[in-house]
Amino acid sequence: MSVRLAVFASGGGSNLQALLDRFAGTSHVTPALVVSDRADAGALRRATVAGVKALHIPVAGRPEHMVGDDMLSALRDCDIELIALAGYLRLVPPRVVEPYRGRILNIHPALLPAFGGAGMYGRRVHEAVIAAGCRITGATVHYVDERYDEGSIIAQWPVPVLREDTAETLAARVLRIEHRLYPAVVDMLARRIADGPAADDTTTRLEVFRLGAADAGMADEMITLARI
Ligand code: GRF
Repeated sequence: MSVRLAVFASGGGSNLQALLDRFAGTSHVTPALVVSDRADAGALRRATVAGVKALHIPVAGRPEHMVGDDMLSALRDCDIELIALAGYLRLVPPRVVEPYRGRILNIHPALLPAFGGAGMYGRRVHEAVIAAGCRITGATVHYVDERYDEGSIIAQWPVPVLREDTAETLAARVLRIEHRLYPAVVDMLARRIADGPAADDTTTRLEVFRLGAADAGMADEMITLARI
């Protein structure tokens, strides 16, 4: 059985691309829908190129319940079982979160719960990390709930902050890790969903992290990064 995946993205979609590349031609995950709140999002172009349904669902100025209903009908039409937010800058309406609880993930370019929350996205995150004098930052994959960046954490990967870093150089280093971490976690969760109802149990997250990290050959990478 192939788990059908939707990706929500507002921007360029490099994490979307990492997911598309990882699951192209696999039998256990089918990227089936890409949703964006922006008609000109690079993510929609990437979806079209990959032959995946690309859908613009406008958010600005519309009642939340209408946005949610549009999303739900697209998700149902495409038989979506798992949703990955990848740079989606809007809050997912509660009427979408509820039926997909435990099946919606997000990736954030810092070690949550630090440097998250409303307005903490893009270069602002990395500027705040540098301004705080952190020596370590990273990427976090977490379940999505009704609030920004607060759902339980599934996996994290540390990335060093170097003395000479700017927000741009740091963002690029974190993004390289995101592109490895996110597909690994989606892969593991999809396998669990395919295996049965226990997949919705969020307490499985530590195991998912261990398996995901090993699967992506990340243990050595973590040691290397920690030594920099
Ligand atoms: C990533 O840094 C992700 O962690 C955050 O938004 C950014 C999206 O980048 N949520 P891209 O569009 O995937 O390149």
